[in-house]
Amino acid sequence: MRVLGIETSCDETACAVVVDGRDVISNVVCSQVGDHAKYGGVFPELASRRQIEEIVAVYEGALGQASLDLKDIDVVAVTFGPGLVGSLLVGVNFAKALAFYSGIPLVAVDHIKGHIASNYITHRDLEPPFLCLTVSGGHTQIVHVLSYEKCEIIGSSRDDAAGEAFDKVGRALGLGYPAGVKIDLLAREGDSERYKFPHPKVKGAEFDFSFSGLKTAVINMLHNTRQSGGEVNVQDVAASFQSTVVSILLERLIGAARKWGCSRLCLAGGVSANSELRERASLECANYGFELFYPASEYCGDNAAMIASEGYYEFMLGNLAGFDLNP
Ligand code: KG4
Ligand code: ZN
Repeated sequence: MRVLGIETSCDETACAVVVDGRDVISNVVCSQVGDHAKYGGVFPELASRRQIEEIVAVYEGALGQASLDLKDIDVVAVTFGPGLVGSLLVGVNFAKALAFYSGIPLVAVDHIKGHIASNYITHRDLEPPFLCLTVSGGHTQIVHVLSYEKCEIIGSSRDDAAGEAFDKVGRALGLGYPAGVKIDLLAREGDSERYKFPHPKVKGAEFDFSFSGLKTAVINMLHNTRQSGGEVNVQDVAASFQSTVVSILLERLIGAARKWGCSRLCLAGGVSANSELRERASLECANYGFELFYPASEYCGDNAAMIASEGYYEFMLGNLAGFDLNP
């Protein structure tokens, strides 16, 4: 079964064709990173306007790459949330128009379930149940994936997402937007013991996260050092900050796995591309005898292949959307 996936929840315009939830036969992602860099973050109005201009070419690119026509597609799957509403509207309306015109069934996909499904594309034999740490620019969650459709959120961020903390610390370090990859690279040259940052916990919610205090601690340290004429070692700040984030994420993930008796763990989302997170998660999992899965790098960030993969399973379970679908 060939599923056309459509993803426009943030600043990417993406379309992909995936066969039976696992085989990616085309994957086109049009990124606007360059357009938003000068604003230091995603400018929502600009993102949706660009997506309107890009969506037709991206769709045609995905069909062309797969050497298919619309008539060869069995299901249209589209992200309907969470995300920027103006951006989501572009993908949802485009998908509804395609489905209405062609009579092809329409499926609505939750963006977070899509990120989780990026692991199904990379690991052909992986099936639920498992625990997934979903870490992106907009979300930080530990999800108990019970089946392809049923998920239970065990913990989530009360304030900033992990990726957002990377981007805001990166901005204070003058690294531009987005800063996650840059911090990852700089951290390799730095001393992670040089600066001590807090490991905030959420009282009464052992698996929830709070990154706002950590972000503020880093930014305050930078201001205070600069104001007193001191030198900041960017590599050491990157390494100390990243190491703190990874410790917080893994402490909660491993704790949740032990409490829920779950020995299969996955990472997903843009921050799951982080090299220290992958390395230390692998070590921790080996220590506890857990199996660890993470997506191939090209499926960590927002893409439509993951939406098509989850869309296939939703369709097989009979979860169809109507033309009243709204973001
Ligand atoms: O999943 P994603 O592409 O978009 C959202 O759904 O938010 O995630 C983007 C986020 C950004 O905050 C970016 O800085 C972060 O993922 N990111 C990284 C790395 N690559 C991307 N953070 C840390 N290390 C990386 N290697
Ligand atoms: Zn995302």
